[in-house]
Amino acid sequence: MDLAPPPERGIFCNRTLNLRAIEAVGYDMDYTLVHYRVEAWERHAYEHLRRRLASLGWPVEGLRFDPELMVRGLIIDLELGNIVKANRFGYVKLASHGTRTLSFEEVRRVYALTPTDLATGRFAFINTFFSLSEICMYAQLVDLLDEGEISGISSYAELAQRVRQTLDEAHWEGQMKAEILADPERFIELDPDTPLALLDQLRAGKKLMLITNSEWGYARSIMEYAFNPFLPKGMRWRDLFELVVVSARKPSFFSAQNPIFRLVDEQGWWEPVPGPLPQSGIYLGGNAATIEQYLGLSGDRILYVGDHIFVDVNVSKKLLQWRTALVLRELEHEVRESSAASKQQRELDERMSLKEALERELCQLRLLEQRRRHRYGPVIDLDEAEIASRSAELRGEIQQLDERISPLARRVGQLCSERWGPLMRTGRDKSHLARQVERYADIYTSRVSNFLFRSPFVYFQSPRGSLPHDPLSG
Ligand code: IMP
Ligand code: MG
Repeated sequence: MDLAPPPERGIFCNRTLNLRAIEAVGYDMDYTLVHYRVEAWERHAYEHLRRRLASLGWPVEGLRFDPELMVRGLIIDLELGNIVKANRFGYVKLASHGTRTLSFEEVRRVYALTPTDLATGRFAFINTFFSLSEICMYAQLVDLLDEGEISGISSYAELAQRVRQTLDEAHWEGQMKAEILADPERFIELDPDTPLALLDQLRAGKKLMLITNSEWGYARSIMEYAFNPFLPKGMRWRDLFELVVVSARKPSFFSAQNPIFRLVDEQGWWEPVPGPLPQSGIYLGGNAATIEQYLGLSGDRILYVGDHIFVDVNVSKKLLQWRTALVLRELEHEVRESSAASKQQRELDERMSLKEALERELCQLRLLEQRRRHRYGPVIDLDEAEIASRSAELRGEIQQLDERISPLARRVGQLCSERWGPLMRTGRDKSHLARQVERYADIYTSRVSNFLFRSPFVYFQSPRGSLPHDPLSG
């Protein structure tokens, strides 16, 4: 295999991580070890959700899943029925009310003084692909609620709660997943390289774990389908793992003392394990403390790899200091799109710095005019007319620049999603999602098989990073 990965298949490092020092690697399953065809899965989930709402008498017959409507990393404002995109400080830069995009002025009016704060109950972050069906339905229902088409719901928050609960039921009740299992090709995007990446780590002496919220019957079938055909002859997916933990109930898996059960019979007979884990095997429920105890390892020796920004990387790091890797499949599209637009981005940057220089001069002239009018400060050799004429000249140049900057900014602002732009950026700044990734994911990458490009012994070094006061390069 080519050792230099294509740029979109890199493993990117926020916080230096020596893989050699990692003795155990835990993997999440859904959207981590196994990638679903997002549009097919979410359309399927959406249809289950829609049918359930219809059976409750909701007017949802005409609604359809729109994969372009929403992306991961957005935030629901439950108070106002808005979906917003915020920058790394939580300030809202783009928003829609239901499915209607808000204008720049509307966004400013509503949010200039109200940054999003995920610690309050008002805002809910879209952490995973599994939420796309839910948020699409929510936005469409906000429209219907505003039109007076839905009765018995008194707030946007209550509406969100009802959608959440109904989707939950669809996930729990077996039908939706039974249909996935009946037609895996339609829903699962296989990656034959993933089993090899895990095998490398296993043979390098690391203990591997699968820790998934999925239930046993589902996880077993999915792993058989996605792993067994690509392992060496005679090897099964479960031979890779020291521990398999299903129905893990993350995030409480990382914080609570949930009881743990051991699989004693393939058909799903579980027995409680009252004390420490007796041996490697397949378990249900439990908690991270029991796992650490079994492994005899502290958090800095364990790497957890998952796709859910809150459940998999935020909580495991904050509570237990596990090392973390986030799988963000969207990165592949994002990196490709950004490099395709790099010429425009460069031109935009150049024109922006030109504009900044002109604006600086304009501000300076304004100050000089102020001093001249109020007769203070150092004497200058420009009179009022000269200041006015140079200022007018500068305004003209800035306007000309703006005519070129606007379409360029629009183009790069619409990369990846016409409505919401790139995942990791909000305008020129990092997005709220990028900030979460930076804080909680030590490394991040588009898929698990990218580990093949780097050995199990690699030392991931974080880049030096830039600060606003760094000397300008070049
Ligand atoms: P993991 O990513 O391997 O931990 O597993 C994710 C599991 O959570 C899958 O079995 C999903 O069906 C399930 N899941 C995802 N979203 C929801 C939800 O909104 N409600 C209940 N279960 C969910
Ligand atoms: Mg997952």
